[in-house]
Amino acid sequence: MKIEVRLTDVSKVIRKKKCCRKTNSKRKHPPASPVAVSFPLQRLYMSCIDVFKGVGTVPSPTDVQKLCRILDGMRAEDVGLSRNLQFFKTSSISGVTPKVACTTIYQSEKFSLCIFFLPANAVIPLHNHPGMTVFNKLLLGKVHIKAYDLVTSNNQDDSASPSQRKLAALKADSVFTAPCDTSVLYPTSGGNIHAFTAITPCAILDVMGPPYSKKDGRDCSYYRDIPYKALPYEEAVTNDDRERERYCWLEEIEIPKGSEMEGIKYMGPRVIEMS
Ligand SMILES: [Fe+2]
Repeated sequence: MKIEVRLTDVSKVIRKKKCCRKTNSKRKHPPASPVAVSFPLQRLYMSCIDVFKGVGTVPSPTDVQKLCRILDGMRAEDVGLSRNLQFFKTSSISGVTPKVACTTIYQSEKFSLCIFFLPANAVIPLHNHPGMTVFNKLLLGKVHIKAYDLVTSNNQDDSASPSQRKLAALKADSVFTAPCDTSVLYPTSGGNIHAFTAITPCAILDVMGPPYSKKDGRDCSYYRDIPYKALPYEEAVTNDDRERERYCWLEEIEIPKGSEMEGIKYMGPRVIEMS
């Protein structure tokens, strides 16, 4: 896998630098660790241990701020990446469906730290995060993010619409360019459903608490969005035309063809696990 090879190159660079330092010194040092420890990543991990208390708990606003501050300050290099890697310089290849890759830095029952790699034009389709708080930090690249929250409306009559269609309100529909601030999805705000479309090759660091777990009922569902006015049988949520554009129907679908992610080995700095 190309990305793995390139991440391997990063750790080789780290190893090589350490060897050079050793050669120049007369003092004896223990053998260099193959992968350096990253202080910002370690700080993120330690804070996640404090913040994520397990299923059913949502981080307090103070804790969300704390994690956002750490993530806002993180750079691609903190997880062993660099904009000089060939992956981030490659434009899209016509006729080839770009595949998203994912690597896990750390995962426990309470939280996970992952990086998603999106080649140019790659898409992570609309998907949800049931019961999870999710922090997204764009490390490199330019990406379009669309996010919805489900709406609980008195006007919504479940008997009148197919049950798999849910009314949702648009919360984000913008292009983000690294470096930029962290975005957060909350489990209590109505669904936390989002999609990513890479404009250039991207790396996105995700902190999820708790992580997906099929056996615990936190599986990932996929959706397509249908314009609100396309379903005439529904009563109006609002009569304001501009306001209506914020709304759509989300229909649950099977994972779109070609959207399966490729898991790759994490080759960047490791976290030192605390018991
Ligand atoms: Fe997501």
